[in-house]
Amino acid sequence: MRGGRSGRSGAPVSDRRAALLLAWFDAHRRPLPWRADLDPYRRWVAEVLLQQTRVEQARPYFDRFVAQFPSVAALARAPREAVLRVWQGAGYYARARHLHDAARQVAGDGAGVFPRGRDAWATLPGVGPYIAAALASQVDGEAVVAMDANVARVASRWFLETGDVRSARVRARLAARLATFLPRDRPGAFNEALMELGETICRPTAPSCPDCPVRRSCRAARELDDPGAIPRRPPSRPKPHVRAAVVVVERGGRWWMQRRPDRGFLGGLWEFPGGKIEPRESPEAAARRELAEETGLRVGPLRTAGIVRHAYSHFSVDLHVFVGTAPASARPGSPGRWVAPGELGSLPIARGTGKIVSRIRGAGRAFPDSGSDPGRTRRGPPLGGEARSGRSPRQGRRASTARSRVPR
Ligand code: ADE
Repeated sequence: MRGGRSGRSGAPVSDRRAALLLAWFDAHRRPLPWRADLDPYRRWVAEVLLQQTRVEQARPYFDRFVAQFPSVAALARAPREAVLRVWQGAGYYARARHLHDAARQVAGDGAGVFPRGRDAWATLPGVGPYIAAALASQVDGEAVVAMDANVARVASRWFLETGDVRSARVRARLAARLATFLPRDRPGAFNEALMELGETICRPTAPSCPDCPVRRSCRAARELDDPGAIPRRPPSRPKPHVRAAVVVVERGGRWWMQRRPDRGFLGGLWEFPGGKIEPRESPEAAARRELAEETGLRVGPLRTAGIVRHAYSHFSVDLHVFVGTAPASARPGSPGRWVAPGELGSLPIARGTGKIVSRIRGAGRAFPDSGSDPGRTRRGPPLGGEARSGRSPRQGRRASTARSRVPR
């Protein structure tokens, strides 16, 4: 553990607003697992997870991650697949890949020593301005404001900022205002208190102002009928919908799977061959075409296993699932593996692929023609998503074209 200065120091905080906020945080902060100390490794893992995942959802991932990789050295030594596997389901897998790359940097060139200060933290892969400021303030006691979406919302209400809080200019203005009373002796606690306030009280809609420690100095609470009206939310645009065909090729009780390229959407995860269904193309024709293009495999009759629906963070997809049997002599002409169902427990796969596996396992070996069955698979959006990369090239024989790419 590092001797940060953001824990409870007992030093007086000169500004009344900061004092009220910190007193509230000291009394109400949730006992989250990464808050037990100021260990830079645990704080870093937590901040990376929390960047796109809510606290209660992030918690079990954090616990599993640090149990499996208890130190930066352990993380650096781990194979990529083990890291992605622990992250499986949390979405935005680039976070896990960057964390892993950064651990190798710290454990290698850095000889196990973490960066110190915001600018040094920002040199690590996956550490942007927000995480760098959060870590520098919490772990190193550097007096910098960490501006995430929660903090931007709290500050916009506090100072009645009506500009677009997503813009860098407005965020810089809000950060500058907060910096005027950021307590030098507890900057990390101040930042965490703002995040906590945004998550528990100053929520996006229906903020519970009577419970807020700084309501008396909050301009939105004093001047607006509905303090939750700012920041204004842009109208939500419907997510694009994609239709895709996926082929589960069985050979001797194993399935052909391929690994997505390490970079990009769902990078490094394993999946079945497949791709977008072209306009006026039948799902089965798309399945055969994709299979041939990606693997060179030709299979006999395809049986349908129905449609699996999945919603990622920025699009939804109908996966038309087909199952075919390849002869024992089949040799796909692309990188991949014949995977035994029992091995799936150790391979990182995306949620959509997990749903396909459940579907075909549930259907047993007969794979009845179940047709569309949205009721069984249609659930809410996944816990996380994957960062929109605009790319999802496949590793198959064919260099994927923009039209056939399936951002699955
Ligand atoms: N969101 C991002 N970082 C956080 C933290 N340290 N505590 C609570 N919520 C957070």
